Amino acid sequence: MVGREREQSVLSELVAAAGGQALVLRGDAGVGKSALLDHVDGLAAGEEHRVIRAAGVEAESELPFGGLHQFLYPLLSSIDRLDDGHRKVFDVVFGRGEGSPPSVMPLGIAVLELSSLVASQKPLLLVLDDGGQWFDTSSTEVCGFVGRRLTGSAVNLVVTLRSGLPSGFDTAALPELAVPTLSGAASGQLLDRHHPELDSRIRGLILEAAQGNPLALLELPSYARGNRTGHTPEALFGYAGIPLPQRLQQVYGTRIKALSDEVRAVLLHGALDGVGAGAATGPTGGARYRMTGAHEAVRPGGWAARRTSPVTPAC
Ligand SMILES: Nc1ncnc2c1ncn2[C@@H]1O[C@H](COP(=O)(O)OP(=O)(O)OP(=O)(O)O)[C@@H](O)[C@H]1O
Ligand SMILES: [Mg+2]
Repeated sequence: MVGREREQSVLSELVAAAGGQALVLRGDAGVGKSALLDHVDGLAAGEEHRVIRAAGVEAESELPFGGLHQFLYPLLSSIDRLDDGHRKVFDVVFGRGEGSPPSVMPLGIAVLELSSLVASQKPLLLVLDDGGQWFDTSSTEVCGFVGRRLTGSAVNLVVTLRSGLPSGFDTAALPELAVPTLSGAASGQLLDRHHPELDSRIRGLILEAAQGNPLALLELPSYARGNRTGHTPEALFGYAGIPLPQRLQQVYGTRIKALSDEVRAVLLHGALDGVGAGAATGPTGGARYRMTGAHEAVRPGGWAARRTSPVTPAC
């Protein structure tokens, strides 16, 4: 990563600290929130901590406890070590028992018990990517409750939220770290690392258009080159008033149009399933659609020509 010394040092402290802590990373689309989660995930794994990841998924946004289930499922075997009272609270969440859904407080307490039990063997890091828009309300409330009570435990919780999108975490009173755009120097470094071929005019235009957004710095150069899409740099930079997210939407829209029908079908399936949010190896991983054969879409900045390519979707 480039230019994230401050954020990396906050995350290192969080992993190294003896007591548990919650932290919300908030920033614009593409600014690098998930990249920071990958970083903290790696730090924690390096310290032999157990890491469980969950993600807000559109398909499950109306499913009470769907998000929480992503965190709890890997801990299923430890639930039987809880006392009866706490164990029963989980029965509804796991569909193992009848009854009305537990309210936030008993479920939150049971989650604290369970996570502390697991963390007594090795520290636990719970990582929630995109906890805003698509993470179901019940799970958000429980995670907020838990996040406010981690002090003294060996459990950490890190959540990412997109700026400008309302979320139940907005009122959860968890400590926040804003993820700003990259500085000019860091932007230049990132651009030169990934696109050393740019001439100075285009380089300057891209730095200006990207406004320190890493995703834009990585994606705009291929668009600006326009070699296979017919777009010229002027097409990209001719609309000064267009906000960056819309520009990126346009960039991706053009890129998706250039893909083969088969690959677009894989992407659509993945988007509907939420697998693109990174939960493919999560609790329902076995039942989830796994995106394969979409390599031409994944290639950074790759502008695939429209052609038929072998696609091997696997369930
Ligand atoms: N500091 C950085 N150094 C190098 N690459 C970065 C950095 N930050 C982000 N990136 C890269 O930029 C791209 C966008 O980052 P990322 O996916 O983390 O953004 P995000 O904030 O999670 O966006 P979204 O809100 O859409 O989830 C990724 O390819 C990521 O690897
Ligand atoms: Mg992200």
